[in-house]
Amino acid sequence: MKTYIVGNWKLNFTVGEASIYLHKLLKTLPNYRDIEVVVAPSTIALQPLSLQVDRHKIKLSAQNGFYRDYGAFTGEVSFSQLRGIVDYSIIGHSERRNILGEDDKMIAKKVAAAIRNRITPILCIGETESERAFGETADVIRDQLTGGLSEVSDDDIDKVIIAYEPVWAISSTKAAKMATPDEIAEVVKLIRKNLKDIYGAKVAEEVPVLFGGSVKPSNAGAYLTVPGVNGLLIGGASLILSEFTDIIETAKRVSS
Ligand code: PGA
Repeated sequence: MKTYIVGNWKLNFTVGEASIYLHKLLKTLPNYRDIEVVVAPSTIALQPLSLQVDRHKIKLSAQNGFYRDYGAFTGEVSFSQLRGIVDYSIIGHSERRNILGEDDKMIAKKVAAAIRNRITPILCIGETESERAFGETADVIRDQLTGGLSEVSDDDIDKVIIAYEPVWAISSTKAAKMATPDEIAEVVKLIRKNLKDIYGAKVAEEVPVLFGGSVKPSNAGAYLTVPGVNGLLIGGASLILSEFTDIIETAKRVSS
């Protein structure tokens, strides 16, 4: 299986800055067939960057999209409009759940709309600090996974990527607030068990599961060798070109 290295730029970079970053990344990055390098710029930068990108080397991802293809939905951008521009879309990121109020029902519709428009959804799930403290991690993971996948049929589950992002480990600078490989392994096992219960053993093994939450060049190797982890979703460190390319190099080393 490929290793996925996905940079989530969140609300950073102007279109010009994004274009310069992409130019530099394309220049330095070899064509690694077994590493799927993906960047997720702001929606406004996607169209111009789609004309600039070399898709053999780097794929584009949206950070979000709307579940209806067209209509009276002021301010939204649909997956049908993103079709052909991006290959992936992050869906259900904790910042959208917790700041923008997205729930599992809406996220499920977005996952279905992405698939319908030939865009691979990267469905983000993860517990908050207090949910973990109250021993609710397994329930949260199950609810968000089954909720987010509720409109995905047996035929389409091979078009989905899951990202485990414990909310408490996102944008962290303190070691105590970073997930340990053991903590990640335990939840990834849970994710695969839930996938097995819904879709069967083969799917449970084959759906790519990524980890995200304060991934840096210094911990990327340890996270990539967690059993069942197929890649990384990177926020802060993906904004710094040298850190992002370091992580890609680490992925290459670990996978070969
Ligand atoms: P971080 O963000 O790497 O800055 O913690 C990850 C994410 O939110 O996807």
